[in-house]
Amino acid sequence: MSRTKISIVGAGAVGATTAHWIAAKQLGDIVLLDVIEGVPQGKALDLWEAGPVEDFDATILGTNDYADTANSDVVVVAAGVPRKPGMSREDLLETNKSIVQDVVMQVVQRSSDAFLLIVTNPLDTMAYLAKHVSGFPKNRVVGQAGILDSTRFRAFVAADLGVSVEDIQALVLGGHGDQMVPLTGYCAVSGIPIAHLLAKSRIEAIVERTRKGGGEVVALLKTGSAYYAPGAAVAQMVEAIVKDKRRVLPCSAYLEGEYGLEDLYFGVPVKLGAGGVEEIIEVPLGPDERGQVERSANAVRESISALGL
Ligand SMILES: NC(=O)c1ccc[n+]([C@@H]2O[C@H](COP(=O)([O-])OP(=O)(O)OC[C@H]3O[C@@H](n4cnc5c(N)ncnc54)[C@H](O)[C@@H]3O)[C@@H](O)[C@H]2O)c1
Repeated sequence: MSRTKISIVGAGAVGATTAHWIAAKQLGDIVLLDVIEGVPQGKALDLWEAGPVEDFDATILGTNDYADTANSDVVVVAAGVPRKPGMSREDLLETNKSIVQDVVMQVVQRSSDAFLLIVTNPLDTMAYLAKHVSGFPKNRVVGQAGILDSTRFRAFVAADLGVSVEDIQALVLGGHGDQMVPLTGYCAVSGIPIAHLLAKSRIEAIVERTRKGGGEVVALLKTGSAYYAPGAAVAQMVEAIVKDKRRVLPCSAYLEGEYGLEDLYFGVPVKLGAGGVEEIIEVPLGPDERGQVERSANAVRESISALGL
């Protein structure tokens, strides 16, 4: 039986942290690739040397050569520049467009059956670009955003209530920008809707903090953007695919009429398993949420049209 092979392109903050979570979860052998010589090799060696302490047997290879990514089962694309304070994710489009284009072309030549998991921002637009460049079917190209946005929402709710994060469920829809749509009606504490437990003003404050969650970290770091929570979110998606868990997770998926939206990548709940995006789950939305989804979708459409494809 062949071992699962997971390649991560971009050995920066997010790529390396994703490798760390994937190794800790023992999801497969890892290839970490970057354009900078020495960095993926050094980080891979360092992570591999943690194996005996943390009990993981994975092979972890650092490289600058795409040949080493051949026949990957999953390829995570985390190459590209992150935000600096004051920047929006859209400000990264021009630079990251050429990087993602190049990375996807290199990867698909060598791993034509892989699942592409896109992380580079602006997220929904880069996922759209990756699907376009790869020519892969929509179930095999998926973007990470909603798990991160939802875990932030969950963390804030748990902290406010002073209860375990384990008991909080939350769902954030929409594009991975400040117009994302945290669905408060679908946020619950062990099934108890948060409206029963938190005042409206507190819920509104949490929604606002969730929307700006990425920016809050950027403003503190000053030299880059978040990576621990993003890396954990990516690893959860990889796990769902390689273990065929059929998790129901918010991911950026290609829509063809779902939620009344056509031809764009957008954050929606999906069933993620061995077939990749196996199903898009549509949930009923209130008129206000519907309006928010429309605004978020318009922002994503504008960004996608700036690709000039
Ligand atoms: N989707 C999300 O939820 C999410 C969360 C955090 C960050 N991000 C995005 O992920 C990307 C990476 O963020 P980071 O913090 O790791 O940045 P980083 O600067 O730490 O790392 C990026 C890495 O990409 C490499 N790179 C650049 N061009 C490349 C190419 N052509 N081929 C291979 N590697 C290349 C760089 O050398 C660098 O090591 C950014 O675009 C960031 O905005 C997305």
